[in-house]
Amino acid sequence: MSNSIENMAQIPEDETARQFYFMDKAKIYVEELAAKLGRKPTCCVNTFGCQMNARDSEKLVGILERVGYEIIEDENADFVIYNTCTVRDNANQKVYGRLGVLNGYKRKNPDMKIALCGCMMQEPTVIEKIKNSYGFVDLIFGTHNIFKFAELLVALFEQKGMVIDIWEDTDKIVEDLPVERKYSFKSGINIMFGCNNFCSYCIVPYVRGRERSRNPKDIITEIERLVADGVVEIMLLGQNVNSYGKNLEEPITFAELLREIEKIEGLERIRFMTSHPKDLSDELIQVMKESKKICRHLHLPLQSGSTKILNAMNRRYTKEQYLALAEKIRKKIPDIAITTDIIVGFPGETMEDVEETIDVIKKVKYDNAFTFIYSKRTGTPAASMEQVPEDIVRKGFDKVLKTVQDTAKEQVARYQGQIAEVLVEEVNGSDRSLVTGRMSNNTLVHFPGNENLIGKIVKVTLDECHGFYYLGHM
Ligand code: 5AD
Ligand code: SF4
Repeated sequence: MSNSIENMAQIPEDETARQFYFMDKAKIYVEELAAKLGRKPTCCVNTFGCQMNARDSEKLVGILERVGYEIIEDENADFVIYNTCTVRDNANQKVYGRLGVLNGYKRKNPDMKIALCGCMMQEPTVIEKIKNSYGFVDLIFGTHNIFKFAELLVALFEQKGMVIDIWEDTDKIVEDLPVERKYSFKSGINIMFGCNNFCSYCIVPYVRGRERSRNPKDIITEIERLVADGVVEIMLLGQNVNSYGKNLEEPITFAELLREIEKIEGLERIRFMTSHPKDLSDELIQVMKESKKICRHLHLPLQSGSTKILNAMNRRYTKEQYLALAEKIRKKIPDIAITTDIIVGFPGETMEDVEETIDVIKKVKYDNAFTFIYSKRTGTPAASMEQVPEDIVRKGFDKVLKTVQDTAKEQVARYQGQIAEVLVEEVNGSDRSLVTGRMSNNTLVHFPGNENLIGKIVKVTLDECHGFYYLGHM
């Protein structure tokens, strides 16, 4: 084997070519491991957190398959990768808890390797803790150098001890590396990375770095390739898609990008995530209204309905501005579903502030809302503000959750008896005689069918509304 590695050409300078070079090299090491084990080595990639992380994991899997790993779901594998999230502390605690389990597997399988990557690894205190208390971890890398995964894999085979490579930030976007999609018919597409907003509770700008937009041509080419490969629905991903393109050499707006994407033949549905209310333009509302492909769904994080708290959160809009925006959107696009994120228990929040949030929920009538208890993140401005006692947070949280459930139920029920176009995603996990799909407005529908329907858009009668989902028939 070392012969073939010695015979490899020089390391190319171009970053994409460089990573393909390391994939070839890693492949030789994996083949060697396979010969030793008498089977293909297995790998399990476990993803925590948001859609961005899910997409990053698809990139990891793309490389792992190419170098010869068999991808499995079971964590009792030869190689386990945790792609971590750190937006709230419970995500971190989950990782620490499960690392103990992995250590148990590793004691029984001396060839096993463990890697950690993603947002949590961008926190210096986390790295210290892992070095000190979780010495059995083999590889740690962050969000900015994930494109280097093939190179790090090679380091994992060649170096002794824990391999650690964390970058503080990057302006690099590396195109055209392998990706292995989880679904054949739908895909996430990064259109931008990072965030410049610095909401005072949020750790994302510290772990994902500054805003960088991908070149529109690269995005369009990627989507065209996906469509040629059978994809009908795409989800454009960015922490704040409404500020897409502002920093490009030839600036372009998000709405203009959407107009270009709309023209791609064969593409049926366009989704995007996430929109910051302060940057949502009239141009975008217009493009959504005119579009045949952009889904009737807008995720518009509110965070709080109290102008005082919004100000302390550095959200840069007031309660009234948010309400006016929601009303404008509803007027222009009546069949749209609006969903949101809400944080309860932000420093300084009183029950009066919670009532303001509840007022917004009732007025906007969300189809769904993700409600989070505020989590103190070290290094963010809100961490040094006076925290709200736990019992008050709990009370506010329960009240918000109840309101969300009540309004969502009513909202979702408004389609009862109608016929909707549903993109079938999978056979239902708990009842194999049903399939599960999504309406354009993102509502889930379960109905009798089989796996041949997966990836198809079919017409379904919405018979029974069950809170956040429907039961129906084709
Ligand atoms: N505590 C609780 N929720 C948070 N979010 C972001 N940071 C925190 C935090 N420190 C929520 C916001 C954001 C969503 C992705 O996570 O609501 O929109
Ligand atoms: Fe965090 Fe605010 Fe950026 Fe969203 S917009 S990622 S909440 S800083």
